Amino acid sequence: MPDPISVLVFTQTPISEPLIKRLRAVSPRLRVEVRVAPSLDELGDVWRGVEVLYTSWFAPTPQMAPDLRWVQGQFAGVDHFLGNPVLQQAVLTTTSGIHAPNLGEYVLMMMLAFGHRLPRLLQYQQKSEWPQDRYRLFAPAELCDCTVGIVGYGSIGRQVARLARAFGMRVLATKRNIAGADAGWHLPGLSVAEQPDRLYPPAELKAMLAECDYVVLLAPLTPETEKMIGAAELAAMKPGAVLINVARGGLVDEPALIEALRAGTLGGAALDVFTREPLPADSPLWTLPNVVLSPHVGGITPHYDERALGLFAENLRRYVAGEPLLNVVDLKKGY
Ligand code: GLV
Repeated sequence: MPDPISVLVFTQTPISEPLIKRLRAVSPRLRVEVRVAPSLDELGDVWRGVEVLYTSWFAPTPQMAPDLRWVQGQFAGVDHFLGNPVLQQAVLTTTSGIHAPNLGEYVLMMMLAFGHRLPRLLQYQQKSEWPQDRYRLFAPAELCDCTVGIVGYGSIGRQVARLARAFGMRVLATKRNIAGADAGWHLPGLSVAEQPDRLYPPAELKAMLAECDYVVLLAPLTPETEKMIGAAELAAMKPGAVLINVARGGLVDEPALIEALRAGTLGGAALDVFTREPLPADSPLWTLPNVVLSPHVGGITPHYDERALGLFAENLRRYVAGEPLLNVVDLKKGY
């Protein structure tokens, strides 16, 4: 039999036995070890011979893991790995595609919440107040009259488009390469064919922003996309529009966002990600009345491990068979 392949699955939360068995069942060549530890430092000396690594936030240096050839990230975003020199010897793959159902619902939840004035409803409920001018205060904006602009049109963007259309919304999107097909993996049943009403190249971002009642950020964080939403882009948005960021905090110039929210030029923001995480206790974002925030949990689903490790199992099968892996990161593009 050809040489065994040493696989390390390194997570922060335990993985169920059936999922570990599923990985081991991929091939008798695989020696799959599972370690749960809060950080690289607490993982201990486990690297001898490791060729394949499944990991969330942490990757070893080349000195620690000289035999490493492939890193399968547990997340869709891989910006935290990009400077690691271990990527000169190891290919990097992502779980892009597994987040479409839950993040699609998260985005719809936030559009409905802002459209139907949920933050304001909760403020009045907390005061036990039935306001006199309630018809004015709580008058909704129906999604069927609204336009959503999706920045980064991959698997989650397409799901947002599908769900938004079910509510009668107009769907616009920007994408780095508008002519290119989407090479990312997608869950069965979520077709890649969903097209927006109009697709803009990145250079026309501001033209798209001016059309949108809701802007949803779904682009990867790379040197090219860092702070892509700054003061000028926020000023280009429709007065009263809502920004929804479920991608990475670094896409947005946070002080400029806070300024636009304070000034009321932006109607609101739903934020799952921040420049610094955990969000510092003194950030004004915690208390601005037109902000709904969550602590980077939009991607969570009860099906996370099953989907992520299911994708990893398929990639392991391909690795053993010498076939091309799914979701390989192009280090030049950074995603
Ligand atoms: C979560 O933030 C992810 O990138 O999957």
